[in-house]
Amino acid sequence: MELDATGRLAGKVAIVTGTSPNIGGTIASGFAAQGAAVACNDRRAEVAEERAERIRAEAGKAIAVPGDVTDPEAVGALVDRVLGEWGRVDVLVNNAVRFNTKGVLDMPVEEFRHQVDVILGGAFLMTQRVGWAMVEAGRGGSIVNILSTAAWQGQAGNIGYCTAKSGLVNFTRSAAMELAPYGIRVNAFTPTATMPVDPQLADRFRRATAGSTSMDFAGQLPLGRLPTPADYLGALVYLASDESAMTTGTNITVDGGALAKYWPQAPARREGGTP
Ligand SMILES: NC(=O)c1ccc[n+]([C@@H]2O[C@H](COP(=O)([O-])OP(=O)(O)OC[C@H]3O[C@@H](n4cnc5c(N)ncnc54)[C@H](O)[C@@H]3O)[C@@H](O)[C@H]2O)c1
Repeated sequence: MELDATGRLAGKVAIVTGTSPNIGGTIASGFAAQGAAVACNDRRAEVAEERAERIRAEAGKAIAVPGDVTDPEAVGALVDRVLGEWGRVDVLVNNAVRFNTKGVLDMPVEEFRHQVDVILGGAFLMTQRVGWAMVEAGRGGSIVNILSTAAWQGQAGNIGYCTAKSGLVNFTRSAAMELAPYGIRVNAFTPTATMPVDPQLADRFRRATAGSTSMDFAGQLPLGRLPTPADYLGALVYLASDESAMTTGTNITVDGGALAKYWPQAPARREGGTP
């Protein structure tokens, strides 16, 4: 990755939570490639360190700010660390997640509470702390909450995730209304089932879902293939940058057409596949 001093995020400082090698890590690297200085957060310190090191090795600017986004003290400390290092925060991406696919009949309440806390409580705490830093600096900013197509549809056996992700939809609108007077924009981004970056994980995902009639990922997507994390970068850089100066309280979806599809209809296909 080459550092682009004239990139679309040049001069900005961004915090990305949950920087695993999948979507969060790709966002962190993608922002750095557009000139942002990026603080990589994860509950697992080695994950945050690994991503920050990788960005630096590719001539980008990054630090690791490990910490649990559900812990107010950890959140305060990690945002202070970013302010100490670079003196500002312009962009926050609330991406950290705890996957736990259980249904309403069998999910233990403690697990439900924990999953909702990571997704909603984490976004709340990070937005509150970063929101104050942005208000005090008086330069505005951009906050992006990562949703899922599961925020907009009812999926059996994923009650905590679907509940919390749809909660983020109106959290986004409410925070956007509250922060608009300060020039701080709050938007959501909806990805869908994503082909993992790691080839081994991608292979496992393909094998686990091949021939499944209850979760026919490959067969049901109108654009004919699952998106990769890199497919999300264009929209996310747009939301993080000044290009979206008049966009707030809304959502951008990059889902291969999943949410637009009329539910009983099989996707149209051409002979030879999608170009
Ligand atoms: N992967 C998909 O197919 C998919 C589909 C739709 C939406 N999404 C969304 O995209 C985002 C990223 O997904 P992913 O697949 O890259 O996830 P992932 O599981 O690969 O990474 C999530 C990271 O969040 C970290 N994390 C968990 N709890 C945390 C906490 N309390 N504090 C800080 N970090 C914590 C984990 O350690 C992990 O590294 C999530 O918001 C997810 O809901 C993913």
